Amino acid sequence: MVNRRAALAFLGGAASLALTLSACGQSSEAGSASSSEGGGTVGIAMPTRASERWLTDGKSVVEKLKGMGYKTKLVYGDDDPKAQYSQIETLVKQGVEALIIAAIDAKSLNGVLQQAADAKIPVISYDRLILGTKNVDYYVSFDNEMVGRQEARYIIEKLGLEKGKGPFNIEMFAGSPDDNNTKYFYNGAMALLEEYLESKQLVVRSGETEMNKITTLRWDGATAQKRMSGLLTKWYSGRKVDAVLSPYDGISRGVLSALKSDGYGSGSKPLPIVTGQDAELESVKLIIAGEQSQTVYKDIRALAEAATEMVDDILTGRLPRVDNRTDYNNGVKDVPVHLLQPQSVDKTNYRMLITDGYYTAGQLR
Ligand code: GAL
Repeated sequence: MVNRRAALAFLGGAASLALTLSACGQSSEAGSASSSEGGGTVGIAMPTRASERWLTDGKSVVEKLKGMGYKTKLVYGDDDPKAQYSQIETLVKQGVEALIIAAIDAKSLNGVLQQAADAKIPVISYDRLILGTKNVDYYVSFDNEMVGRQEARYIIEKLGLEKGKGPFNIEMFAGSPDDNNTKYFYNGAMALLEEYLESKQLVVRSGETEMNKITTLRWDGATAQKRMSGLLTKWYSGRKVDAVLSPYDGISRGVLSALKSDGYGSGSKPLPIVTGQDAELESVKLIIAGEQSQTVYKDIRALAEAATEMVDDILTGRLPRVDNRTDYNNGVKDVPVHLLQPQSVDKTNYRMLITDGYYTAGQLR
């Protein structure tokens, strides 16, 4: 891998790029090359250590940046927006050359991102779009609406809704209300499910279908478990739930625990279809065991690669790859985005995770 260090001061996409170093130094120069700002350190702010995927994100981003010759400072906000704010503030004060941020609360970083902008530190919004500020330069993520569509498609196919089957009982879960991705997942799923809700082939016994009625603060599995238990008690005595739309594996596992405590998963009361997202190891094992039905695989290594290439491009004065410049408005501006494609995974195709090197066969045994 070619080693390049920050050679350009990046001014929020403006044309004022000042060449301070000739880029494209070979690896032998990796240690010595540094920008006029000094350091060549990239700050990475991740949201939580409570979920496996974000640990993989942090590790992958650090590995890729190191491979490119950068130094890194990785921090985890442990799902506390205030803690994340001050972590980023510290990174700015330490003079990092770029920031990669997966926000806990999409709207809470305004002030600190102004500090980053004042210090001419480019900001990449990682996986989750940061809202309400002009001081976010690029967004790198998966096609999040597609994630919701893949979950819904799975339910539609497995229940045979296109063949006119039904009615079936379904309950729905959404992600954290402060995460901008939540609405994409929800909208993507609803775009496909709506017609079957209207035809009454799908029935939501609780009546809770609006996004703000079904969110799960901080994507917390225990919160989802509690809600699912409540729904089962209130709406499903003498009835069976046939499908649960879940937008994230941690929520799916909470839902499955509630279902199993209620007697689901035995011969006369099979588990419903339960979707998910992230292909977390624990959930892939549950898929193999026939408990969770589906997940959406988003190769975090590819996301990390996209984000780190973006950083490297910015710091070396090249234009980062952008797939879309108009569809991701954060309330203040259209943020240019690099989007990756998610993939639906179930028992029939989970081996792709092994072929892909995402997990070893041993891990999945
Ligand atoms: C979202 C992310 C999902 C999932 C969720 C909970 O922002 O896009 O893949 O990880 O957070 O961590």
